[in-house]
Amino acid sequence: MIKVVKQNFKKLSGEIVIPSDKSLSHRAAIFGALACGKSIIKNFSKGQDPQSSLKVVQALGCEVIRNDNNVELISNGILKNPQAELYCGNSGTTMRLMSGILAGQNFSAVLTGDESLSKRPMKRVITPLSLMGAKITSNNCKAPLKFEPSTLHSITYNSEIASAQVKSCVLLAGLKCDDITTFVEPCLSRNHTEIMLKNMGAKITTNNTTTTVSKSDLAPINTTIPGDISSGAYFIAAGLLVPNSEITIKNIGLNSTRTGIIDVVSRMGTTIEILDKRNVFGEMVGDIRIKYCDNLKSVTLEGEIIPNIIDEIPIIAVIATQANGTTVIKDAQDLRNKESDRIKTVVTELKKLGANIEETPDGMIIHGKTQLIGDIKVNSYCDHRIAMSLFVAGLVSQKEIAIQDFEWVNISFPEFEEIFSQLF
Ligand code: S3P
Repeated sequence: MIKVVKQNFKKLSGEIVIPSDKSLSHRAAIFGALACGKSIIKNFSKGQDPQSSLKVVQALGCEVIRNDNNVELISNGILKNPQAELYCGNSGTTMRLMSGILAGQNFSAVLTGDESLSKRPMKRVITPLSLMGAKITSNNCKAPLKFEPSTLHSITYNSEIASAQVKSCVLLAGLKCDDITTFVEPCLSRNHTEIMLKNMGAKITTNNTTTTVSKSDLAPINTTIPGDISSGAYFIAAGLLVPNSEITIKNIGLNSTRTGIIDVVSRMGTTIEILDKRNVFGEMVGDIRIKYCDNLKSVTLEGEIIPNIIDEIPIIAVIATQANGTTVIKDAQDLRNKESDRIKTVVTELKKLGANIEETPDGMIIHGKTQLIGDIKVNSYCDHRIAMSLFVAGLVSQKEIAIQDFEWVNISFPEFEEIFSQLF
């Protein structure tokens, strides 16, 4: 589907609710399947990726009752031998987290994915799981991944990359081991797994970048998932960039391992108000208010902040085209392993719109401020975050733009356009 983004609006204003956090929805579905009893998950994501996690746990014997965006998940904590291959769709989180669980079962299972997921690197989970004793065969360290029955043993794993998916995979495998499993990451990635497992009764401890886990029985969860700050980032950007805008986002997740986007835009010279901050099932949640800013300045982004903004870099690049000065993004080479090579795809498409942007091996350099021109067709590369970032670029382009394969927004955010229309 081609989406045409027109500029026939004056400003963006109003109060919106962003749908459910994708990372938390995945974890609630997958961890709920490991608990004995009924988990109640309110405000579960309608995105295709978390729905893939639900379908996978259903195929492993859990009962899933959907009622609009509320989900009840009934499990006896013991997964059943699946009748068919387990299809993860486009979802790297489903594949990598489920790998940690399937590695230590007494049955075989196969995880498959769509064309994009089948090209993504899985060595990052195969390596630690194999060290734990897992028997995995793959297509040259890519999906499909086949797991043979294995008994796992604990390890201490020093990960070269700060990846919440790899961390979660190893910790989930560690839940089945007799001794203590330790995961050390080079800098802190999102910590939803640690928080949710702890709330479910797991024996898990964290000390900055070191997490340990040991054999635990999990109690079911009863939680309401907040809005996804990674989805909110497109509205933060649009509010900052479209003149005279003011947007309030209600009930959004504010876990400090995810709020890098707020830190980045405040370093760029704007203030996002945070209202009514509260704790829900161990996760910080609140409301935020964004106002148009006409004097954004450039930033250098590198090191520890990168894992915290890994999904937001495409939209940060759009913001940077409208900031005065040179924005440099470094240490973000893992962006090349996402749903598309996000360094290449962002640079190529923003260049087409008139941005002054260069690709580097581990990031990009953006010289601002440039007026985006538009009057051109751009490509989403079947990547939801590229599609949504280009939509926001289209809102501030001089002329309309057309986005190829826009329907891929459904991977994380089917309500994207409907929520934007509430602000026009
Ligand atoms: C996710 C972790 C991140 C992120 C992905 C979701 C998660 O990946 O890019 O969209 O829910 O754990 P990495 O942990 O591989 O960086």
